[in-house]
Amino acid sequence: MLKNKTIILGVCGGIAAYKSVELLRLMKKAGANVKVAMTRSATKFVGETTFRVLSENDVMTALFDFEGTGTLNSQEASVQHIEWASQADAVVIAPATANIIGKLANGIADDALSTMMMAVTSPVIICPSMNTHMYENRAVQRNLDILEQDGMFILEPGTGELACKTSGAGRLPEPALIFDRLVKIFYSKDFTGKNILISAGPTREALDPVRYISNHSSGKMGYAVAEAAEKRGGLVTLVSGPTALSPPVGVNFVPVESAREMADAMLELMDNADIIIKVAAVADYRPLVSHENKIKKRDNPKSSISIELTENPDILKMLGKKKQKHQFLAGFAAETTNLDTNAMSKMEEKNLDMIVGNIVGVKGSGFEADTNKVKFFFRDGTIDDLPLMEKAQVAHMLLDHIISNVNFKK
Ligand code: CTP
Repeated sequence: MLKNKTIILGVCGGIAAYKSVELLRLMKKAGANVKVAMTRSATKFVGETTFRVLSENDVMTALFDFEGTGTLNSQEASVQHIEWASQADAVVIAPATANIIGKLANGIADDALSTMMMAVTSPVIICPSMNTHMYENRAVQRNLDILEQDGMFILEPGTGELACKTSGAGRLPEPALIFDRLVKIFYSKDFTGKNILISAGPTREALDPVRYISNHSSGKMGYAVAEAAEKRGGLVTLVSGPTALSPPVGVNFVPVESAREMADAMLELMDNADIIIKVAAVADYRPLVSHENKIKKRDNPKSSISIELTENPDILKMLGKKKQKHQFLAGFAAETTNLDTNAMSKMEEKNLDMIVGNIVGVKGSGFEADTNKVKFFFRDGTIDDLPLMEKAQVAHMLLDHIISNVNFKK
């Protein structure tokens, strides 16, 4: 996700500096080249060695001398802050103290980080973290406004109990949230203004208040599509059956349980959608009778029990019937055999613009896995057979195909 990107992570002196270590790990995991610039007071909270080892780069702590490392002489160091600034694809300052915010807003350059920032031309994300009264202080708020007007992204701090034993705004947002904001900078915004409706996860068909029929869908593929579409500027609504996943940031989340609930939500929301992607693994049948109270063993003296099932609505087929000319409708076909024939006949039968066929029940693909092996089928007969990929990557490939088709349709 961040391959070939150089990110400067600015760390200031605050108790939340320990969270920057996790943020650094997320950036590295995504393939970024991370360089850490610490203020002198930050080194009192987290050791420079931690950042050096994890970033696999030198750590900048002073303007004229990499104190303690001895790796650069003062002449080399004196240009280092300019070099880093010019290499940066983005800068994240987390935690950002009142001090650095004040300095950046007023053009003060009196240490390594603030001096380097004077030369930065890339996008900058500021993550304030401090005591609530400090955060609400008029000077700090004024300075944040200035930074925003200067084009920097300010990530609102979270609220809750703070290290200074007070409670309120000022907590550094979780590293995953900061990382998410960073990643967004690099995506093209080709879905801006598009309303995208996505369904994901399994459905649960109640047998009684404690039991249900369902399937192995984890929701990972649908959530990956929702997350990718949101990052690319789309207005995403995610209708999801029960999963263990957290809804992606910035997505309008509509939780449902059963196929009939999913059908109601999708049909209600479809009119407003430009693109509809039905990733959910809908239970085709539900118990004919859903018992009001728990089914008791003592009520069934025989050692076997039969459950009569009745068919659920085919939601995608209903959407296909209602689809308007400007709308793009995509489905998924989960198959264990005859992928091509089954996927293509579902595309026809449900009036889809495309279908994503995926083989389930094999290692590394389909339900629960983080990777997927899929084939894209289009109405004009073209087929794109993709290799095994991360679900996030599959999601982006799918969106690449859709956006070219949607633009073509208009
Ligand atoms: N689908 C749906 N409503 C259903 C069943 C399926 O909307 N009751 C949608 C799924 O979300 C998916 C597509 O139809 O996008 C294909 O689902 P799949 O389970 O592969 O196929 P089915 O149509 O259920 O057919 P079968 O189970 O016989 O393979």
